[in-house]
Amino acid sequence: MNTPEFWEACYESEMDGWDLGGPTPVFQRLASDIPKGSICVIGCGRGYDAVTFAKEGFDVTAIDFTEIALSAAKENAKRANVDINFVQADIFDIPKNLHYSFDYVMEYTCFCAISPLRRFEYDRIVWQLLKPDGKLLGLFLPLDKELEEGGPPWGVTKEELYKLFELHWELVSEEMPRDSISKRVDREILLVWKKK
Ligand SMILES: C[S@@+](CC[C@H](N)C(=O)[O-])C[C@H]1O[C@@H](n2cnc3c(N)ncnc32)[C@H](O)[C@@H]1O
Repeated sequence: MNTPEFWEACYESEMDGWDLGGPTPVFQRLASDIPKGSICVIGCGRGYDAVTFAKEGFDVTAIDFTEIALSAAKENAKRANVDINFVQADIFDIPKNLHYSFDYVMEYTCFCAISPLRRFEYDRIVWQLLKPDGKLLGLFLPLDKELEEGGPPWGVTKEELYKLFELHWELVSEEMPRDSISKRVDREILLVWKKK
């Protein structure tokens, strides 16, 4: 199910209920608050959040394996007059030249898009993208869905996230954002993890 074809079909048939049609307020806030640097947006979709960080002066790379999402993201970047390095790749097979390159990795609705069986791999690939001391900025959802209910989106709990990350990462901050979009308030958690 986690193939480019599956996601292409979602975009083509407009079964894209996750898409906010614009930037995520939580990441707009972060982009203006945190020190500038290089950031990799994984599973960037139509690229609204990548554009947000680029507008704030971050050096942005945005990865997705879906052609249709990337071409919309490129259009969005063009309209906003920002430069973004777009990479069409599977996050589980990221070109080696991107390894250990980023100050930040941004996560939103990519973790819940992949099979729960690959969550350990996800931990490794994000770790591998970051420089020493690099940070994962992750807004994780849905917290109110059981894994047994299927996916995507696949449910996740705060306990699972802690178990997954605390071995190789140090928690910097945890927040239940009040500026989540209304239908996601209390259904998503913002965790910032720093590489150990
Ligand atoms: C639910 S959408 C979220 C898109 C965007 N983050 C957003 O919030 O609008 C998941 C995105 O991740 C991409 N994706 C899923 N699995 C991927 C993988 N293994 N490698 C690269 N991209 C992937 C899909 O193509 C899709 O664009």
